[in-house]
Amino acid sequence: MSWNPSTYNQFKEERFLPFYDLLSLLDIKPDQKVLDLGCGTGELTRKLADALPGSTALGIDSSAEMLEDATAFAGDSVKFEQQNIQDITERGEHWDIIFSNAAIQWVDGHEDLLPEIIRQLHPNGQLLIQMPAQQHNLSNKLLNELAAQEPYRSALSGWIRKSPVLDIEQYARILFENGGTSINVFEKVYPLVLPDPEALFTWVSGTALIPYKERLHGEIQQQFIADYKLLLERHFTGSPVFYAFRRILMKATF
Ligand SMILES: C[S@@+](CC[C@H](N)C(=O)[O-])C[C@H]1O[C@@H](n2cnc3c(N)ncnc32)[C@H](O)[C@@H]1O
Repeated sequence: MSWNPSTYNQFKEERFLPFYDLLSLLDIKPDQKVLDLGCGTGELTRKLADALPGSTALGIDSSAEMLEDATAFAGDSVKFEQQNIQDITERGEHWDIIFSNAAIQWVDGHEDLLPEIIRQLHPNGQLLIQMPAQQHNLSNKLLNELAAQEPYRSALSGWIRKSPVLDIEQYARILFENGGTSINVFEKVYPLVLPDPEALFTWVSGTALIPYKERLHGEIQQQFIADYKLLLERHFTGSPVFYAFRRILMKATF
């Protein structure tokens, strides 16, 4: 997927808040070997490493565009590599902490993915994950509803981005069944207060809209964007616009 770091960075403050909440769940220990899955522009990988004295962190991400920005945050203790999250078992490495902020919602098959990630932890290793609760978020639902309507349904050959995100009970069960202790899984609303629906559109265009823009080109892409903006205007009226954006946070020790 082609990510645009500058569009993504437009909402830094809003996007950093859940990161700090996730970080607050971490048991701070020195000299940890840390893996950050879907590190993006690397700014938060650096903050994570800085919170753990004497530790080293590796950020992996599939996007060359995002990783280009990450070079600014690299150093002796923080490195970045281009790699898919679903390929981490190929590294044959183990980690004290595996962390992932707002990334694994892009990888399918969480019932299998989480156990695979957990197997890459050292004994007493910590897993911390944050992702949007896409199945409950209206901006995602509206995108998929629009994509299922003509003419987009035909243009996309019936494709819609089915969210792999599960409910919190299911994540808690997966963590438990794979040996997790001190399990903490919860959903939290992050209120988004934006000047107007156009700003909400910009928020979505930094993430969930990307796979649709990649599959629709030219006039039909413009029409899809215009129709999506209309839907947002219909559902988010007035100024400012308030959007109760739901996210899932989880932490467990293994
Ligand atoms: C919303 S950004 C989050 C970036 C960073 N963790 C942060 O919180 O700022 C999602 C990131 O996940 C990456 N990503 C998506 N699918 C991926 C995959 N299958 N493997 C590795 N990275 C992936 C994207 O390239 C993007 O940089």
